[in-house]
Amino acid sequence: MHRIIIDTDPGVDDAQAIAYALAHPDISVEGLTTVFGNASVDITTRNALQLLDVFGAGEIPVAQGADHPLQIPRFASPDFVHGKDAMGDIGLAPPTSLVDPRSAAQFIVDIANQLQGELTLVAIGPLTNIAAALRLDAGLPAKVRQLVIMGGTVVEPGNVTPVAEANFIGDPHAAEQVLAQDWPATVIGLDVTHQTLLYDQDLEKISAHCGDAGDLLRKSSRFYFDFYRGDKNLEKHEQSCAPMHDASALVYLTKPEAFTFVTGAACVIEDGPAMGQLVLDRKGSPYVMPHWEGRPKISAAMQVQAARVHDDFVDTLLRGFAA
Ligand code: BDR
Ligand code: CA
Repeated sequence: MHRIIIDTDPGVDDAQAIAYALAHPDISVEGLTTVFGNASVDITTRNALQLLDVFGAGEIPVAQGADHPLQIPRFASPDFVHGKDAMGDIGLAPPTSLVDPRSAAQFIVDIANQLQGELTLVAIGPLTNIAAALRLDAGLPAKVRQLVIMGGTVVEPGNVTPVAEANFIGDPHAAEQVLAQDWPATVIGLDVTHQTLLYDQDLEKISAHCGDAGDLLRKSSRFYFDFYRGDKNLEKHEQSCAPMHDASALVYLTKPEAFTFVTGAACVIEDGPAMGQLVLDRKGSPYVMPHWEGRPKISAAMQVQAARVHDDFVDTLLRGFAA
């Protein structure tokens, strides 16, 4: 059983990831923590509460986190990708539950201590809350079972700049601080999420069999799919489709064998034209200059059996939300 906190900025693809986690019998969602990213944190928190209502999981706590990055101003929200409300502008009903009184960072630290080594942190937004949790408890990396991050890219071009992925450039200082710590950290980045697509036909099926949850996922994805219709890498597909960015990080928990990794020391560029770039030491053997000596290693997913991840996502939703 994976006992997880999802640190999230919902977000159309965040909603898909949360739905998968709730639907999977081997995952227990201990809480959601929210962060700015796809919208301001007020909006992403409201979305998190609304999603849990529609997914029938209103009892799961939601703790609100950062509304801006550690050191740089917040970039404009990508409302051209996720809509103004970050859920495809479909007008969700107001939430029925209240936000947890603790900050996201405090919530993460509390649950990590409570679960004594069992907690898995899955971060699918900018890493500001995880960096804030490290400030509260520098021993956090030793207290969690693993940290799984949707973010960054090693070889695949970035989706915000030629080298930067949205979550890492959203708060490059936080990403650098998090990757500088020695935890069992896995990065699921664009190298694999750009290979793993969800199609309109999948959402039609999910919508037909998964009640209100399916309806929400289908409707919210329309805006997102429209954005990706303009992506030249996806032109060859006749049907509307979009990368399964955030859901891939959740599927990794239950199907790690579908991914191939490179392990090495990593850093994130904090400023300049390469801001937000994930740099991974793929060679591993010593270099002439000593700068990287002693940096902890992470695992970065480089290849994926996309059909397995896709099929598992769709099957899990169909089973978990069968109406
Ligand atoms: C990431 O950026 C956000 O827009 C998505 O929700 C995902 O977490 C993909 O780069
Ligand atoms: Ca996200």
